[in-house]
Amino acid sequence: MTNMKPMTMGQQFGRRSWAEPWKIKMVEPIKMSSRPDRERAIQEAGYNTFLLRSEDVYIDLLTDSGTSAMSDRQWAGMMLGDEAYAGSKNFYNLESAVKKYYGYKHLVPTHQGRGAEHLISQALIKPGHVIPGNMYFTTTRLHQELAGGKFVDVIIDAAHDPLNMHPFKGNIDLDKLETLIKQVGADKIPYVSLAGTVNMAGGQPVSMENVKAVRALCDRHGIRLYLDATRMAENAWFIQQREEGYLDKKIADIVKEFCSFTDGAWMSAKKDNLVNIGGWLAMNHDDLFEATSNLVVIYEGLHTYGGMAGRDMEALAIGIEESLQDDHMNSRIGQVLYLGELLTDWGIPIVHPVGGHAIFLDAKVIYEHIPQSAFPAQTLAAQLYLDSGIRSMERGVVSAGRDAVTGDHRYPKLELVRLTIPRRVYTQAHMDVVAEAVKAVYDERKNVKGLKMVFEPKYLRFFQARFAPV
Ligand code: F0G
Repeated sequence: MTNMKPMTMGQQFGRRSWAEPWKIKMVEPIKMSSRPDRERAIQEAGYNTFLLRSEDVYIDLLTDSGTSAMSDRQWAGMMLGDEAYAGSKNFYNLESAVKKYYGYKHLVPTHQGRGAEHLISQALIKPGHVIPGNMYFTTTRLHQELAGGKFVDVIIDAAHDPLNMHPFKGNIDLDKLETLIKQVGADKIPYVSLAGTVNMAGGQPVSMENVKAVRALCDRHGIRLYLDATRMAENAWFIQQREEGYLDKKIADIVKEFCSFTDGAWMSAKKDNLVNIGGWLAMNHDDLFEATSNLVVIYEGLHTYGGMAGRDMEALAIGIEESLQDDHMNSRIGQVLYLGELLTDWGIPIVHPVGGHAIFLDAKVIYEHIPQSAFPAQTLAAQLYLDSGIRSMERGVVSAGRDAVTGDHRYPKLELVRLTIPRRVYTQAHMDVVAEAVKAVYDERKNVKGLKMVFEPKYLRFFQARFAPV
């Protein structure tokens, strides 16, 4: 059972304020540009925030991927890089950290998350296979499709409703999954693809109760269960706060318990794990290890570095340990909730409950006069940049891409702009500036028209597509 009302940080810590569990040792100057400069920059970028130069950005909330600040311990670890081609001692430190904190038997290092997605997809998916999952992620689904599979969304319906207050909107709908298994047959399903938290749903968590039930269902049908562990530490914080019986458990213990119900995981270490580059694939089954530790030498690098330098693996091993500390996670998600509370108080339409890594603005509601075919979320991201140099990301029809069979746009129910908070990088004052900018753009909403796409790349179009005002 779950408590329906998530606690705010204020409720959790009483009347006393909380603060980040670190102090700042080094700073990187940033500056606000002028409105004419921003107009020129966004036009040159084809109204796509991915194509802006970082120099032209004031507060960068494009992504929480690879944008974390490393600790002094991680930087010290960088000096301990063993840059041997084979058998670097940093690899063994990384292997031990993954085993200790996530519990899996084997480790295959990769340069980042999609490298791991590529390997697991190529190893397990055959043409005609179906991969059920709790909402798609762009790179995950594409690798599944490139291997010949078809992704089927089996997340609970609440996930597609921006205002539904379900505390675990990332959960898999067991009926949808069971129906699908009966329809296509268990032998056509190489594995269930479970993400904790669910990025495209707004950073929404999966409950421990749900992963246990999914495991039991998979066991009944002899299907494997693999986890996208990219933001699993954040998922664990929500279990600690919202699921009965977990309030006095440590984040690290919750992560390990959750992973124990899965057969392995892939990881974009650029998120939870607090490094600027890196990833891994870990598993318990020997056959998958054998297949992927062979594939890795074709696509990533030797099986003891997988595209990472020795120093990067050392920083990652240390980052894993730091990322699972309770005080880190309290301030990490506390900052996201702080921004969410400001925007909610001002009546700005956002996805509720607020998730782990970002605030998602509801562009469909904000620009209700702009049809989805004129890219409301893409438009909103461009307007926010124009107003104040804040960079955000479209997560709507552009990100959803085209249907692999019909070639039409996929029109997702959620048309969102993501304000993604990097870890240990910005202060509460930055969050105040962001909230005020969003408010200013919201107040001007009626005067804004949509965009048309003038260039569309074949794969993952949101990264490189170009737009112009309609
Ligand atoms: N899985 C999830 C849930 C992700 O959010 C990402 C990346 C990946 C896999 C792929 O990992 O980037 O290291 O290759 N998400 C980034 C983002 C790009 O901005 O949300 P990667």
